[in-house]
Amino acid sequence: MADEGGNLIVALDFPGAADAMALAQQLDPATVRLKVGKQLFTAAGPDLVRSLQDLGFEIFLDLKFHDIPNTVAQAVRSAAELGVWMVNVHASGGARMMQAAREALSDCTHQPLLIAVTVLTSMTREDLAELNWEAEPLDRVCELATLAQQSGMDGVVCSAAEASVLKRHHGGEFLMVTPGIRQASDAVGDQRRVATPSDAIAAGATHIVVGRSITASPNPAETVLDILASMSPPAVS
Ligand code: C5P
Repeated sequence: MADEGGNLIVALDFPGAADAMALAQQLDPATVRLKVGKQLFTAAGPDLVRSLQDLGFEIFLDLKFHDIPNTVAQAVRSAAELGVWMVNVHASGGARMMQAAREALSDCTHQPLLIAVTVLTSMTREDLAELNWEAEPLDRVCELATLAQQSGMDGVVCSAAEASVLKRHHGGEFLMVTPGIRQASDAVGDQRRVATPSDAIAAGATHIVVGRSITASPNPAETVLDILASMSPPAVS
């Protein structure tokens, strides 16, 4: 699903506003969106989000809310008032929490897309077992994605491997936002369930989130162009 702003989301995982603005100024809001997560938001807050919006970017506010239903509902409302394009909650917060978040947006003039994190892409079966969830990540993702859709979410965050399975069960409109993206030459780092940008799109991801491949690149703007080119279908000759 290509839309205005593109389906590449650049994760601005930086310690402060200066680094984030420096990268944003090298990018084009017509081709990428930007993700502001916990590190940057904790340091630089809503003012930074507004500065990025002033540059023309749509913002995915990735704060992965997980709290009692009332608190998450009010947090999601604050995100709507900030004018962000997308905001997320943890599906493991449960149906009542997700429904409260959905309900909270119902009378907002601007309604961000509301998606749910299933299982973090850094987690393996062993990590789940430590939590007494004796399941493959894929099975857990499928359960949480079903709960998220029934609770009114616009989509989920999942790995590329799971996107191909979820696509069959959840139909075309359900968003699948896929982090854990690495180009073939990149280090995997702390991620575990990784895929290349083109594989993620082929698997059914509607949006991909790329952080360190771009932020740690000596030439981030060029890396963005390479990734965008690798995501486009090959030209028919
Ligand atoms: O640097 P890297 O490309 O691994 O960054 C991935 C980004 O996606 C990080 O900002 C991380 O917080 C986020 N993310 C994730 N897994 C999820 C949800 C978000 O890696 N399930």
